[in-house]
Amino acid sequence: MKFEKNILCIGAGYVGGPTMAVMAQKCPHYRVTLVDINPARIAQWNSDDLPIYEPGLDEIVKETRSRNLSFSTDIEGGIREADIIFVSVNTPTKDYGIGAGMAADLQYWERTARQILEFSESPKIVVEKSTLPVKTAQAMERILTSTNNGIRFDVLSNPEFLSEGTAIADLQEPDRVLIGSMETESGLKARDVLVEIYANWVPRERIITTNIWSSELSKLVANAFLAQRVSSINSISALCEKTGADIIEVATAVGMDSRIGNKFLNASVGFGGSCFKKDILNLVYLCRSYALHEVADYWESVIKINQYQQERFVFKTLNAMFNTLSGKKICLFGFAFKANTGDTRESPAIFIAKRLLEEKTEVVISDPKALKNAREDLKCMDGKISYIEDPYRAVDGCHAIAVMTEWDLYRNLDFEKIYHFMTKPAFVFDGRNILDHNKLYTIGFNVFPIGKPCMTYL
Ligand code: UDX
Ligand code: UDX
Repeated sequence: MKFEKNILCIGAGYVGGPTMAVMAQKCPHYRVTLVDINPARIAQWNSDDLPIYEPGLDEIVKETRSRNLSFSTDIEGGIREADIIFVSVNTPTKDYGIGAGMAADLQYWERTARQILEFSESPKIVVEKSTLPVKTAQAMERILTSTNNGIRFDVLSNPEFLSEGTAIADLQEPDRVLIGSMETESGLKARDVLVEIYANWVPRERIITTNIWSSELSKLVANAFLAQRVSSINSISALCEKTGADIIEVATAVGMDSRIGNKFLNASVGFGGSCFKKDILNLVYLCRSYALHEVADYWESVIKINQYQQERFVFKTLNAMFNTLSGKKICLFGFAFKANTGDTRESPAIFIAKRLLEEKTEVVISDPKALKNAREDLKCMDGKISYIEDPYRAVDGCHAIAVMTEWDLYRNLDFEKIYHFMTKPAFVFDGRNILDHNKLYTIGFNVFPIGKPCMTYL
């Protein structure tokens, strides 16, 4: 079959994989290829055991893989044949040199740009999918035009707003698709090509076009605003615990104001995920580099509150359990940074598990999808750690349960049975406020929610 377009994506990760799978599903007339430098990852994409867990993804990959979606390590061949190249390689926070701990590490990006330059034999539209500091497109274009090989490259910014756990629905019916371009004749032409691709399944009014810097900045700002809401409600949860107010009641009352809205107001043990912290640090670094120190301080405080919320959780646990955790056994319910994913990047559970181990606590980790990543995250830690998926077995002999992830399965457990398996007095620290606290208290647990009065027999 002859395809209308050859679409390539470099970087087959949490963003590239689902994005291209949905594009292949919605556009059977395009050939979509994903390439990655990691052969093990590509082998997994080609197997029945995909490298990432995302509800609905398996079915789409199975449907499209034999038709118009393929996974390969042949980056060179992929670049040569492509008309449009999406770049979705990772951009972690730099851990060396200037900007260490703040700026984005663009080495993979630059390497990818150089590969595109080296292997291209025809004009290409290069699309930034990764979240990048503002003006990366300019750097990208400079690299691509650094040799006079006569090939035309147009760089577009098209940030991805998918949220893990709901990625497929987010991709199939996005709130908006944002496309930023240079405002030159060829930049606008390239932009229109990308608009046409998305118009295969996204209503036109949801496809918005901007200049390239606005597009790059919008992604950082969207994540900063979302994270700020979580830090705002989490900061108030600390005040609720001191005053006897209830964070769920406060969030409901505040969220019913249509100007504020009711989403992203769940107090928690803290936000995680690969994007929020990294993107805010990026924004902060950007502001500092323009000497906007007040603006930088403002956004940096969102990260500080998130750190504080996690510290507070450990301190509360220590304090409630008679100021010593040494030799006690605590079971973490959930390790993923949110429900419906196996991803543990920046998960508050990593920080909390490490702090508990420092207190010489025996830690049992339970999670339906994230145990493999959890093992990797904690492999350098000394101390007693075990990984048990079945929550009923995981709690055996434990002094406390700490809920880290809002998996539905934890809401519906038989807590009478669980109480029976645990050492007394038994504690529950609900870092997600998902359990029925009154019921737990009636069973005999000492219950410590977030931002609500604790219920104890002590
Ligand atoms: C990443 C970033 O975290 C995010 O900020 C950005 O918006 C999109 O890219 P994600 O897909 O979650 O998101 O990252 P990851 O799962 O690590 O996937 C990146 C993939 O790129 C990896 O599979 C890696 O092997 C691959 N890669 C990296 C390349 O193919 N070439 C490189 O030079 C570097
Ligand atoms: C986020 C953005 O939502 C998405 O648009 C962007 O493309 C990538 O970053 P993601 O990190 O997958 O997506 O998950 P998200 O649902 O935003 O949750 C981030 C963190 O905030 C999680 O740890 C989550 O548990 C936490 N959170 C979210 C809360 O603690 N309370 C809330 O009310 C909402």
